[in-house]
Amino acid sequence: MGGRTKIWRTRMTLLGGIGLVLSMTFLGTGCELRKKMYDQPRYKTYAESDFFEDGTSARPLVEGTVPRGFLREDDHFYRGMVDGTFATDFPDRVEITEELLWRGKERYDIFCSVCHDPAGYGNGMVVQRGFKAPESFHTERLRGMPDGYYYEVITSGFGMMASYAYQVKPEDRWAIIAYIRALQLSQYATWDDVPEAVRPELEASVL
Ligand code: HEC
Repeated sequence: MGGRTKIWRTRMTLLGGIGLVLSMTFLGTGCELRKKMYDQPRYKTYAESDFFEDGTSARPLVEGTVPRGFLREDDHFYRGMVDGTFATDFPDRVEITEELLWRGKERYDIFCSVCHDPAGYGNGMVVQRGFKAPESFHTERLRGMPDGYYYEVITSGFGMMASYAYQVKPEDRWAIIAYIRALQLSQYATWDDVPEAVRPELEASVL
């Protein structure tokens, strides 16, 4: 009995040893492989290639490849257009809330007021220092311009005014337009436009 157990143990030890040697060999090969990948011939970014016909190692995208998440098919929201003309209202996904107006005021004050001035008359600090004066937002012509037109001016610029597409994302363009509309209303508002609840306060402060 004792002799057999001994033989069995010896066999197990042998097997274990072989296993160990084998796995080390494989591990070694793994390292070897990785090193080979590291050392293999490869192109540096934008390097020239004599393998591809067009001579460049940078391969074009497979035909039909489209970026995902950048489709921007909502013309109203992304271009201010509806059926090929300037939108006369806000896109559905822009809800006109008090929060949106505050956001619009903040963005307007940062990006527009330097020229258009805080109230929109076009006499901002940059204009006072010599830049071309924009037309006041309170003229009949600009008051009558559709919302989509404002979107287009912010996106593409207008005459001397540069595009603000990079600084102001679409959501914020709409917020700014909402705020400009509020500014325009503020300069033409009548007593009837003032909500009952705030009339006493206004009366006390102005009259
Ligand atoms: C650096 C000054 C400057 C800044 C900043 C600026 N504008 Fe203007 N904007 C102008 C000038 C100047 C014009 C008139 C351009 C011309 O007639 O060549 C103008 C014109 C406009 C017009 C009227 C276009 C028309 O039909 O007359 C709108 C609307 C307008 N800007 C909106 C904005 C909004 C919104 C912002 C902020 C996102 C902004 N602007 C930022 C200078 C500026």
